[in-house]
Amino acid sequence: MTTTQSTSTTLPVISGDVAFVTGAASGFGLFLSQELVSRGASVIMVDINEDGCKKAATDINKDADKIVAIAVKVDTTRFEDQLTAYELGKKAFGRVDYFFANAGIPERFWLPLFDPTSASSRPITKPDMTTLDVNLNGQLNTAALAFQVFERQEPNPRSGFRGKLIITSSIIGFWPCKGVPLYSTSKAGVVHFMRSMARYYADKGITVNLIAPNITATPIFPAEAMASLTDNPCPIELVIEQMISVLGSCKDNGRAITISGKEVWDYPPHTYMFEENKSAFERMETVYGRQMGLWE
Ligand SMILES: NC(=O)c1ccc[n+]([C@@H]2O[C@H](COP(=O)([O-])OP(=O)(O)OC[C@H]3O[C@@H](n4cnc5c(N)ncnc54)[C@H](O)[C@@H]3O)[C@@H](O)[C@H]2O)c1
Repeated sequence: MTTTQSTSTTLPVISGDVAFVTGAASGFGLFLSQELVSRGASVIMVDINEDGCKKAATDINKDADKIVAIAVKVDTTRFEDQLTAYELGKKAFGRVDYFFANAGIPERFWLPLFDPTSASSRPITKPDMTTLDVNLNGQLNTAALAFQVFERQEPNPRSGFRGKLIITSSIIGFWPCKGVPLYSTSKAGVVHFMRSMARYYADKGITVNLIAPNITATPIFPAEAMASLTDNPCPIELVIEQMISVLGSCKDNGRAITISGKEVWDYPPHTYMFEENKSAFERMETVYGRQMGLWE
């Protein structure tokens, strides 16, 4: 396990770069947007909360005394919304170097509560998949946009990279939590997605990394719930610092940066029996990719 404390003096230079941040009206997305701008970047702030997002961008621009942030109403489950926001951002700032797939919601009940005494009198109902729609498909929409944008732009002359995608997962991505099964699924899903894509894009001037924080005080939790959830929350500054640590000319790719309290470590990619199965797995992967026309 690698533990790190604050590395703020060594963070990559991002001045002049442009970021697209989902969930930018609140919590991580808002703090991140403010921090990116304080480091000389411009931000396309998108959120389903239009008023919150516009107010945040207005405040940022007022502090900077110039237009360094634009706010666009986006429902991340709608790819078209994200595309429109990108196009507006490109018009304002010229390109996008970083996409942060960050917007998320807490668990919504997907099934009625387990109650065998009343079950036979209730119809079997369709599950509510909203948690997956936002936390998994919404983030994959951001990723799909990012990869297609990066493919269409030249590498940034300062960093040498076409672009970088940073996904917000959670420690729950590694620790299935019975109270929040769809949240757990979504957060685990993006870990595997990040690792697959990081390998595919490794030689294409694109990096894909992920941040997996433990509980952090943001509006996602009601204030009264926060106190009982943990006595050792992650400092939000540390989470944002880790997001920024993989930007600019940083070559890191495929990292699942995990944060709990003040500890930071990379969650290991391979566990049980990986080495034993590696060569068979790689052959299978090669064949699949060939079938799909991804390579010769
Ligand atoms: N706070 C934590 O303890 C914690 C820990 C691990 C991971 N996370 C993850 O961090 C990310 C950010 O959460 P946060 O803690 O900053 O919460 P938050 O509630 O403060 O911010 C989430 C933002 O996402 C926006 N949003 C929700 N659904 C959206 C949609 N469909 N389209 C566009 N915007 C939408 C909300 O309006 C809100 O502004 C989430 O993915 C969350 O799961 C949070």
